[in-house]
Amino acid sequence: MLKKLFSTIVLWVSSLLFLAMDAHTQEQANIPSLWETFTPMFDIGVAVEPHLLNDENTPHILRHYRSLTAENCMKPNALYRPDGRGHFEPADRLVAFAKEHGLRLRGHTLVWHNQTPAGFFTDEAGNQLDKEALYARMEAYMTCVMEHFRDVVYCWDVVNEALADGGEETYRVESPWYKICGKEFLLRAFQTAHRIDPDVRLYYNDYGLLNPDKRAKAVAMLKELLAADAPIFGVGIQGHWDIHTFSPQELQKTIDAFAELGLDVQITELDMSVHHPGNREAPDGEKWEYTSEIEARQAEVYAQVFEVLCRNADRISSVTFWGISDQYSWRNYFPKKNRPDYALPFDRNWSPKKGFYSIVESFPKF
Ligand code: G3I
Repeated sequence: MLKKLFSTIVLWVSSLLFLAMDAHTQEQANIPSLWETFTPMFDIGVAVEPHLLNDENTPHILRHYRSLTAENCMKPNALYRPDGRGHFEPADRLVAFAKEHGLRLRGHTLVWHNQTPAGFFTDEAGNQLDKEALYARMEAYMTCVMEHFRDVVYCWDVVNEALADGGEETYRVESPWYKICGKEFLLRAFQTAHRIDPDVRLYYNDYGLLNPDKRAKAVAMLKELLAADAPIFGVGIQGHWDIHTFSPQELQKTIDAFAELGLDVQITELDMSVHHPGNREAPDGEKWEYTSEIEARQAEVYAQVFEVLCRNADRISSVTFWGISDQYSWRNYFPKKNRPDYALPFDRNWSPKKGFYSIVESFPKF
């Protein structure tokens, strides 16, 4: 008797669970697709890690994105090996996925002060390389990596984050690239990449470009590079913004500034933190909560972003979100470990948030 009751309860619970899951799947299947919505204007992409390409995430990724960026696995600390041969697993899993499903792949990133092993800048005895030796290593590394991904990667972030955030200095002077080579490493990187693969599109990629001072530094740097015939195709405006300080006017000015130089614009790492950028601690007695007011505010700001992007669609070729859902966003562990953030259009269960709807509804509003 007890046994029968138990099995009846188990049957009920599993039926209810099945119905709930089915409703969730149905909801997902009925929402508009991000890439289908924006395809006439620009690519919609996402940053992902190979281990996230599983049965749960794959249908959502394919439904909403047509372009991928490796969040970490194509950076020098993942690929570089002192023997010069390169370490391509797990990046090749991402490549296989992109090929199987006909997705575009952005290459991220070749020359960066961060996520590059210290040994990249030293010889076998641990002595710092001089300029010519570092250029030789740059060339060998780029050749190895760019040849490996040649048939699938359509563009590369050749140089990442070379500009200083504040102060008088234009460049990030503490970067080993700058210390060893001076600013000349930028021109050299673009020339080298172009020589290796004249068909791939080459980008300079950075954050903070809505800040007028950093934008001015970027414009000055790009003008100088273009005057020296650097083969730059475009600029990646990363787009790590927040709901408190994002300004649609500044975004417009930044797009104008780069487009006036004749460069393509991509938004390469879009997310919208709900935290104030300078605020690492919760105010006394408060929790990090994602209230419906905050969600609504985030939706308004996402709409502002996409209204500017749609209005400038002829100058923008791609918009990439930095993470597949709030579950996997780097914002959850930076700048403060284990502080939850809610920066993406999908929540931790892949449900679309208000921001998702405000994004799709921003097309076309004019
Ligand atoms: O430390 C966390 C750990 O606490 C957490 O539980 C775990 C979850 O997976 O991640 C841990 O490790 C981090 C790792 O990536 C995760 O893959 C590392 O601490 C961290 O250094 C590393 O962070 C990456 C970061 O670049 C490093 O510079 C982020 O995932 C990645 O999103 C981020 O991407 C950069 C772009 O390449 C360039 N622009 C800025 C952007 C955001 O920082």
